[in-house]
Amino acid sequence: MNQTTMRRTLIAGNWKMNGSVAANAVLLEGIRSGAGGLAADLTVCVPSPYLAQAQSALSGSVVAWGGQDLSLHASGAYTGEVSGAMLRDFGCQFVIVGHSERRSLHGETDAIVAGKALQALACGLTPIVCVGETLEEREAGHTDSVVSRQLKAVLDVLGQQLGKIVVAYEPVWAIGTGKTATPEMAQQVHAQLRRLLVGADAVAGSGVRLLYGGSMKPDNARDLLAMADIDGGLIGGASLKAEDFLAIARSA
Ligand code: 13P
Repeated sequence: MNQTTMRRTLIAGNWKMNGSVAANAVLLEGIRSGAGGLAADLTVCVPSPYLAQAQSALSGSVVAWGGQDLSLHASGAYTGEVSGAMLRDFGCQFVIVGHSERRSLHGETDAIVAGKALQALACGLTPIVCVGETLEEREAGHTDSVVSRQLKAVLDVLGQQLGKIVVAYEPVWAIGTGKTATPEMAQQVHAQLRRLLVGADAVAGSGVRLLYGGSMKPDNARDLLAMADIDGGLIGGASLKAEDFLAIARSA
């Protein structure tokens, strides 16, 4: 819990394209059995084929689950895509939208990301909207303008639904590299994102949870989570080990 604002910490795992039925069974059981009594909310975003497994392993626990992407469309001739309604059908509460890997490897534009956030909300899912700059953009001094543009594209379409999203700041250069933004660097960007959220709607914007993602680990989580506008984490590599994932959640 962020004591000054009462935003409850959210620790979200992004498994990316990792896992197997056998490995997931161990991981999900480890998370489920260690999740009681934590001060943070927990969720795991799993590959679509494993949604039923996550649902069956986590139902009745305090751990939520979600998808890593959803289609811009509700249904129809979109081979290979997964709709928001399908995610809901498997009990998902969250879905990641606009992860930098989707933006860079699958050409997702700000407009597509905004459309997907709306689609998620229409299906009753909480979108975890990702923003973040590349190393090149940071070195050119464009961090604020890049993340502001990315977030504004979503805020512009949300209307009254602003309070229903989660935002994750994930500097691209810190993802999977072992390089973490220092707590101060991350806080600086989070403060900018908060200004935009509050500027769009003072009450709803101050309640939106802002997660940090990018090599968050048990040994750096406490310092990151202590910052005023860091309300949780979006964890890649360290979410694949129950012990590490829970240790991060315990530092909240
Ligand atoms: P890592 O924690 O592996 O750096 O990944 C961060 C991320 O991309 C989560 O979405």
